[in-house]
Amino acid sequence: MAEITIAPSMLCADFRRLGEQAREVAEAGADWLHFDIMDGWFVDNITFGPLVIEALRGETKLHCNAHLMVGNPARHIGSFAQAGADSLFIQREVVTQPAHLLAEIRSLGLLAGLVFNPATPIAGLEVIADQVDLVLLMTVEPGAAGQEFMPSVLPKIRQTRELLDEFNPEARIVVDGGVDPDTARELVTSGAEILICGSYLFDHPEGLTVGVQSLRGAVGEVG
Ligand code: DX5
Ligand code: ZN
Repeated sequence: MAEITIAPSMLCADFRRLGEQAREVAEAGADWLHFDIMDGWFVDNITFGPLVIEALRGETKLHCNAHLMVGNPARHIGSFAQAGADSLFIQREVVTQPAHLLAEIRSLGLLAGLVFNPATPIAGLEVIADQVDLVLLMTVEPGAAGQEFMPSVLPKIRQTRELLDEFNPEARIVVDGGVDPDTARELVTSGAEILICGSYLFDHPEGLTVGVQSLRGAVGEVG
């Protein structure tokens, strides 16, 4: 079975002490930091921008992954690259020609990711599959943490894995929304390799380390 990457979502961190939380995530044994960038237009919420990633870049060696839930991602690719992000996700719903933006992200030395909301079909992905490093399948509607996982996305995850096996076996499937040990098992069985996880980890009564271990333990039993 492929190695599983755990990416805590900083949306659920304590904003009063983000630097400390970034270090705690690393100490807890997680792999990536996930940043939810919301512009108040593509989704209602407004969160943070490249300045926050830049500030935390100095606090952690972990891979910094930015999820652009913004209406005009083209305008922001350069500033997130400059801030030190290692990978960038753009939402399929707001780009008519994703290939151009994906190429731009790669040309700046970052991994390029394409995100599909729960109701967005993956139609046409085979044509641009060799231009993505990561495909993120949302398992909640974007915009907020703490929502209920949508099991109806599982068949789409299996279908995406099959498609990528044919057109770009190197590409990894990422999932985001309502991840916990129970849902993680189903997600990994369906083909997910990178688990973005907010509330379960940051609200874990026994702390981040136990949360990360339980998540790893759950998916370790799969396959
Ligand atoms: C939702 C965000 C997610 C969210 C995950 O718009 O993209 O990254 O923070 O939080 P949980 O794990 O609580 O669903
Ligand atoms: Zn996200």
